[in-house]
Amino acid sequence: MLNSSMSKPRILTGDRPTGPLHIGHYFGALKDRVALQDKYDTFVIIADVQALTDNFLTPQKVRDNVKEVVMDNLASGIDPQKSTIFIQSMIPEIAELTVYYSNLVTVSRLERNPTTKEELKQKEKLFKNNITYGFLGYPVSQAADITAFKADLVPVGEDQLPHIELAREIARKFNDIYGQVLVEPKAKVSNFPRVKGLDGNSKMGKSLNNAIYLSDSPDTIRQKVKMAFTDPQKIRLTDPGHPADCMVYYYHQMFTNPSDLKVIESECQSGARGCVACKNQLADNIIDFLSPIQQKRQYYQSHPEIVDQIIKEGTAKAKLVAADTLRQVKEKMFLNY
Ligand code: TRP
Repeated sequence: MLNSSMSKPRILTGDRPTGPLHIGHYFGALKDRVALQDKYDTFVIIADVQALTDNFLTPQKVRDNVKEVVMDNLASGIDPQKSTIFIQSMIPEIAELTVYYSNLVTVSRLERNPTTKEELKQKEKLFKNNITYGFLGYPVSQAADITAFKADLVPVGEDQLPHIELAREIARKFNDIYGQVLVEPKAKVSNFPRVKGLDGNSKMGKSLNNAIYLSDSPDTIRQKVKMAFTDPQKIRLTDPGHPADCMVYYYHQMFTNPSDLKVIESECQSGARGCVACKNQLADNIIDFLSPIQQKRQYYQSHPEIVDQIIKEGTAKAKLVAADTLRQVKEKMFLNY
């Protein structure tokens, strides 16, 4: 089994299973991940332990989304022959590494992390100005996710950069103090900027009801696109519109071919096209775009045993890698009893 993948550089990346993945995830992460899996020995973590740090009151929700997120990855083109998909909690080696790394990070360093700060604001209700040890420390656990696999590259959204920086610091510090074991990972940010919600909100989310999920049915997509924010100055069909102020046009830029896009732009500006037609065309294009992804998802949905097998084999393979890193870490720390 020690095959050619040994010589390829390695990727570790993944998702929190807190809900189904949407097109923001697709353009921000999955598309890149799929493209890179040929050149990299790719590991995809389903980060259920991390998801619990801000969902500890609703563990069933996390559990229910694990398989959904695995299927979203497979449907988007993650090939289990090339990539290894595994569940974080099934690799306790990661939790053990987290404990050892916790000595290498100060509390104030964690408190300065802009991403955790931002997430904390959104989770005011849960934490009530009283952050848990687990949430404050989840970036340490993420450093363990990454370094357990000696990943060279971590493809992520921009918001994850502070976490990758912390992983680099931890790896460096560990190697300095105890001896060379860990690899300092590099981040790779997707070329796509964050996709805005249909309502124009800069964040897409379930609670905002402004996202299109990879698993949304054609009817749902049509309904959501109907609700999308359009230029408030264009009230009648014949009013001249401003594509730059319209979320439907913003989405057309992603899902519509360049020549149709030009027509849409000029017809909107001249008042020759109304928003209803424009929305119908967009919905059609999104549905067409998602169709092959959904067909693949359908296959896995009707073969749950195949999904289970992929997770089982992926996790077994991941465990071997993480256990080997942990063994080396413990040896350097004189914990090799
Ligand atoms: N924090 C990531 C997110 O919220 C998920 C994640 C967990 C991750 N462990 C990781 C990403 C390791 C990259 C590498 O999307």
